[in-house]
Amino acid sequence: TTPVSKVVLQPSEKPDTVSRMIYGQFAEHLGACVYEGIWVGEDSPIPNTRGYRNDALEALRELKVPVLRWPGGCFADDYHWRDGIGDPAKRPTLINNNWGGTQEDNSFGTHEFFDLCELAGIEPYLSVNIGSGTVQEAAQWIEYVTAPNGPMAAERAANGRKEPWKLKYTGIGNESWGCGGSMRPEYYSDVYRRYSTYMRNQPGNQLYRIASGASDYDFHWTETLMNRVGPGRMDGLSLHYYTCVSWTGSKGSATDFDNDVYYSTLGKALEIEPVLRRHISLMDEKDPKKKVGLIVDEWGTWFDEEPGSVPGHLYQQNTMRDAMVAALTLNVFHKYSDRVRMANIAQLANVLQAMWLTKGDKLVLTPTYYVFKMYRPHQDAEFIPLTVECDTIKDSKNRPVPSLSVTATRAADGSVTLSLVNPVLDSAHKVDIALPKGFPVKVAQAEVLVASDIHAKNTFEAPATVQPSDFRSVKVKNGQMSVQLPPMSIVSVTLR
Ligand code: AHR
Repeated sequence: TTPVSKVVLQPSEKPDTVSRMIYGQFAEHLGACVYEGIWVGEDSPIPNTRGYRNDALEALRELKVPVLRWPGGCFADDYHWRDGIGDPAKRPTLINNNWGGTQEDNSFGTHEFFDLCELAGIEPYLSVNIGSGTVQEAAQWIEYVTAPNGPMAAERAANGRKEPWKLKYTGIGNESWGCGGSMRPEYYSDVYRRYSTYMRNQPGNQLYRIASGASDYDFHWTETLMNRVGPGRMDGLSLHYYTCVSWTGSKGSATDFDNDVYYSTLGKALEIEPVLRRHISLMDEKDPKKKVGLIVDEWGTWFDEEPGSVPGHLYQQNTMRDAMVAALTLNVFHKYSDRVRMANIAQLANVLQAMWLTKGDKLVLTPTYYVFKMYRPHQDAEFIPLTVECDTIKDSKNRPVPSLSVTATRAADGSVTLSLVNPVLDSAHKVDIALPKGFPVKVAQAEVLVASDIHAKNTFEAPATVQPSDFRSVKVKNGQMSVQLPPMSIVSVTLR
């Protein structure tokens, strides 16, 4: 028999907004993320607009990507921005020491990044080098980008851009406890204070300063930053959380996994919720008014690199399992939108849990891309708290994987979107949802992302294997909505 679950929506009088920034992306100079994945250069035979691949631009716009973090990651603390400005023919070719020792020709630099953001209507998020750079270098980069006049502005104009760009989101270091300088939180707190002093607001431009935060379960880092820097000096504190089984040895195949590994991937992904709660409660102690945003600026699945791909380039395929991780994680972020103000999945193209994969002039959209697409109505919508009654599976590590995950938001035009996830491999699921009085009752749109095999993926040969399709198993009658979820499915329904 099909299990029946109940969902009760409990709209609040003062709803939190699910920031569209939670749908942020991250593009590092790593493997084929920036080079090939986005940037091919003007002379490329691949159809492009001023060097950006047209198919990538279209996908960025289609997804309504709100914010893009660049240039890293670990690469950021090795990046000297002056290498990436001026005549491209004169820019130095260096070695990317973090990622496979690949040549970095610096053809994609500050102008190329900010122009991309303008072209695709994206807010830039600049990650600044504090690991191997200097305070002067960081201060001058901010000035170069945002100052309306002065020597840096003159240099920018000489390089082809008279008007300053707008820059809000600015990261001060990345993983400063690791690849960003192996610092201890007490020391990093002072480094942060020093850099943030000189990374000045320029006329007409106000920075939102984000401190390099903890990874996973490092609660001491968060506590120390809140105590030693705290609200007032930082606007955001970051957190990195990967769905990764181990930092040493094999991380498992992205495409070849059994049912146990599937459920434990979801168990690990869902563990982000208790982890978030603990970081948030430490932040609440120092900052009860929630001024400091928790910025999850790296998250997603991390598996072994695809066999035959370039070592160090973190190229991985993407299956329905990744789609599940994306949907479940986004549903968690929504719940904490009073504190989680931004998230950036790692990474945009060809790296880790990517939105798309490229091969020459071919670009294939991944199952994860489609989750982000189906979830667009949640961007900047009001969060509707709800309760779910359902069965729970335990993974091999005894972590809970509920058989149903639901999120609901109300958009500015009054429409309500519910996104429902049935992660169970072999069982459909009937969901009854009581709609509160005054809720819209007309199904305006309903889509499902589903596959008959959890290993289903899109390839260059078969790019449309996993795609959303119209969903018909939804009924609304007498204020009651009922949904019949197939096994392994993600459904989004908009009521108007
Ligand atoms: O996303 C890949 C890497 O993961 C980033 O460069 C780093 O910040 C993290 O360890």
